Amino acid sequence: MDEQNGPFIIRRKTPLFNSEMGAMKARKNNNLSVFVVVFSIFLFGVFMYNEDVKSLAEFPFSTHKAQEIQESSKHVQEETTTVVQSVITTKKQEDNNEEADEEDHRSSSNNNNGDSVTVTVSSSKSSSRTQLETTTTTTTTDNDSEEPQERVDLKTIVAAEQEKKTKKNKNNKKIEMKVVENDDDDVDDDEEEEVVELPPEDCDLFNGEWVFDNITHPLYKEEQCEFLTSQVTCMRNGRPDSLYQNWRWQPRDCSMPKFKPRLLFEKIRGKRLMFVGDSLNRNQWESMVCMVQSVAPPEQKTWYKDGSLAIFKIEEPDHTTTTVEFYWAPFLVESNSDDPNMHSILNRIIMPESIEKHGVNWINVDYLIFNTYIWWMNTFAMKVLRGTFDEGSTEYDEVPRPVAYARVLDTWSKWVDANIDPNRTKVFFTSTSPLHIKSEDWNNPEGIKCAKETTPVTNMSTPLNVGTDRRLFVIANNVTKSMKVPVYFINITTLSEFRKDAHTSVYTIRQGKMLTKEQQADPATYADCIHWCLPGLPDTWNEFLYTRIISQS
Ligand SMILES: *[C@@H]1O[C@H](CO)[C@@H](O)[C@H](O)[C@H]1NC(C)=O
Ligand SMILES: *[C@@H]1O[C@H](CO)[C@@H](O)[C@H](O)[C@H]1NC(C)=O
Ligand SMILES: *[C@@H]1O[C@H](CO)[C@@H](O)[C@H](O)[C@H]1NC(C)=O
Ligand SMILES: *[C@@H]1O[C@H](CO)[C@@H](O)[C@H](O)[C@H]1NC(C)=O
Ligand SMILES: *[C@@H]1O[C@H](CO)[C@@H](O)[C@H](O)[C@H]1NC(C)=O
Ligand SMILES: *[C@@H]1O[C@H](CO)[C@@H](O)[C@H](O)[C@H]1NC(C)=O
Repeated sequence: MDEQNGPFIIRRKTPLFNSEMGAMKARKNNNLSVFVVVFSIFLFGVFMYNEDVKSLAEFPFSTHKAQEIQESSKHVQEETTTVVQSVITTKKQEDNNEEADEEDHRSSSNNNNGDSVTVTVSSSKSSSRTQLETTTTTTTTDNDSEEPQERVDLKTIVAAEQEKKTKKNKNNKKIEMKVVENDDDDVDDDEEEEVVELPPEDCDLFNGEWVFDNITHPLYKEEQCEFLTSQVTCMRNGRPDSLYQNWRWQPRDCSMPKFKPRLLFEKIRGKRLMFVGDSLNRNQWESMVCMVQSVAPPEQKTWYKDGSLAIFKIEEPDHTTTTVEFYWAPFLVESNSDDPNMHSILNRIIMPESIEKHGVNWINVDYLIFNTYIWWMNTFAMKVLRGTFDEGSTEYDEVPRPVAYARVLDTWSKWVDANIDPNRTKVFFTSTSPLHIKSEDWNNPEGIKCAKETTPVTNMSTPLNVGTDRRLFVIANNVTKSMKVPVYFINITTLSEFRKDAHTSVYTIRQGKMLTKEQQADPATYADCIHWCLPGLPDTWNEFLYTRIISQS
């Protein structure tokens, strides 16, 4: 079962362990130790009086895994009913520009039928800490039924605490064997031994919760990664709060493997990894560059642009070359928005059956990560060209968004099936990255878009409706499941919807320039609630990618 990978041992948790865990959950805490009770009461006391939200990290609550997420069944319903009506809200783009490209998107929200549920978090500005505390100390009934989350009381805290400890001990047992790591480059490692434990293959990584963890997150520091563009360096751009960097995604039924840059590098060494899509995929690409770049000394690293490609390259003295690349193709297929520098296209027109022009650039890549979403969102109908751009055609038909999207993904999937050798190339598709445009969506009437948010939505018991067009999500998920070439669907949508705190907001650039103080003071106009700060949420998306990559030998 163990696999030796340079200095690492990679071990897979067996499904047996999984079912044991399930059994444990059901059996429920009968060997409650006195120590745990006393300790928990003490912690609870500290909780009640502590002024500093950061002190959360000192509590083992923050590693809490027991919380049951009840949303999945509801979600499936919501996704399959597709009774989603979009409405244009009034927020319209003032001017178009290069870097804020997709911001000319008019937010649209879904008016669902009765299925739609709104999260009722208390949400005055001053209550953010309270929210945080409440949810962190909240647990569910141990019964996997439809029961909603319970309010906190001492008993549930103690119970949750105990359950967690039991699990933790269980986990610890799995991490006994260590191996000496003879690796000096890895700035991330002070320890000398390393075992990386993989989650069971059948564990659903995307069902879980956000936990505050300033020990392991962020995975790198903003100032340690010189390759970050000023679009995403929120702290450097003046963002006063930093807690958005400290959240770790905790799957419900297993744990993410510890992130080791060196291990990731071992796996992709000598290979090409390429993100293909829109600026959200570029966001994720920047994150990935930062997650691997620490393994190499400065003289081995370069970063350059080549047409639609942006390339981060590590070239070792023996000429082993590893690249992490981004290819701009916001609709995947050919469109009038394909210029990598000129993004100010309001009248977006696509050729849904034409992909070859882009596709030739995706050949001979070892890891391909696709996405397409945000550029679809500024109109309800997509303009489909009659003829070709090459012939100078300008007439188009307007096709409902999901219909055009399905046509595009059909073209894309056929291209992948025809051109990708799954023995050589692993293919991924990142699901829709959500927006946070209307603070009423998370019950904060005093909010201004995402601008005042400093914590995630902590009530994760019900899905949040922030206007994501789930129809496109469903189509993408469907298509990726029906292909000859296996495609790993990175299901980031729901978990990212909770991260209203993680956007670049006013701490970013616009038209290539940093927002001025005056602009920063006017978030209603200028806040970017589409893209994400780095370090931040896209690092988690890449942790899923990492998990998959290191799982494959
Ligand atoms: C984590 O948060 C705690 C509580 O605020 C603080 O004492 C500690 O210094 C923080 N650790 C890091 C690495 O930031
Ligand atoms: C995606 O993940 C969410 C939880 O984060 C879950 O509710 C949903 O069912 C998942 N969807 C798919 C298609 O896997
Ligand atoms: C979470 O949201 C649900 C649905 O709005 C609500 O019923 C529940 O009371 C909330 N839980 C907490 C702890 O606020
Ligand atoms: C949950 O509770 C219901 C009713 O109390 C019961 O019928 C069901 O068997 C329980 N499920 C589990 C998994 O314990
Ligand atoms: C992939 O490798 C397997 C086993 O070596 C082989 O049977 C299969 O034909 C290969 N597939 C392709 C598309 O080359
Ligand atoms: C998704 O796939 C299922 C099963 O193939 C099909 O019934 C359903 O209509 C598809 N939904 C969409 C939106 O394509």
